[in-house]
Amino acid sequence: MKVWLFVVCWLCFTAVFGCSEKQAFVCSPPFEIYEGNCYNISTDKVSADEAFARCSRMGAYLANFETLEEAMLMKQKLKEMNTGLHFYVGGRNINRRKPEGDWRWIRNGEMKEMTYFAFGAGEPNGNDGAPQDCMFFYAAKQYAFHNVFCDNGSYLGGYICEK
Ligand SMILES: *[C@@H]1O[C@H](CO)[C@@H](O)[C@H](O)[C@H]1NC(C)=O
Ligand SMILES: *[C@@H]1O[C@H](CO)[C@@H](O)[C@H](O)[C@H]1NC(C)=O
Repeated sequence: MKVWLFVVCWLCFTAVFGCSEKQAFVCSPPFEIYEGNCYNISTDKVSADEAFARCSRMGAYLANFETLEEAMLMKQKLKEMNTGLHFYVGGRNINRRKPEGDWRWIRNGEMKEMTYFAFGAGEPNGNDGAPQDCMFFYAAKQYAFHNVFCDNGSYLGGYICEK
């Protein structure tokens, strides 16, 4: 009798606990959940390369927005934050000799081709002579994507790390 009770209780417990565990998706600080992803949005003003390094040091990566929906939701959040800052993300041009480049989402050694094109008007406009291989959400253009120099301080911005 006791054994049966134990077995039944154990089954109930695992069913309930196992189920709730699957639904409770959590992000550990300093990352916060936003639309099913874990982000840390920093308003420190840095260059693209510095932003990349800072995310890496947190054991994270500059945020990847593989779907247009993710990018749209983040764009909306940045508008609401109303900081006036640009925000660096993990898009990278891996071929500046190709007109308009070859843009990828990079993270932990992986490169995923961008499957949508959400750059602002006239963008991306980098080239071999003036390489702009990094990108951010551009405050001055309603947070459309914008290409930018990676390695000098011509455009300081905040940044979004993802984990
Ligand atoms: C992002 O990370 C930094 C550094 O760990 C932390 O100071 C900051 O509070 C975090 N931001 C949010 C919104 O949690
Ligand atoms: C950044 O580099 C580009 C291309 O080399 C140059 O045109 C621009 O003036 C530089 N900006 C700063 C602030 O160094």
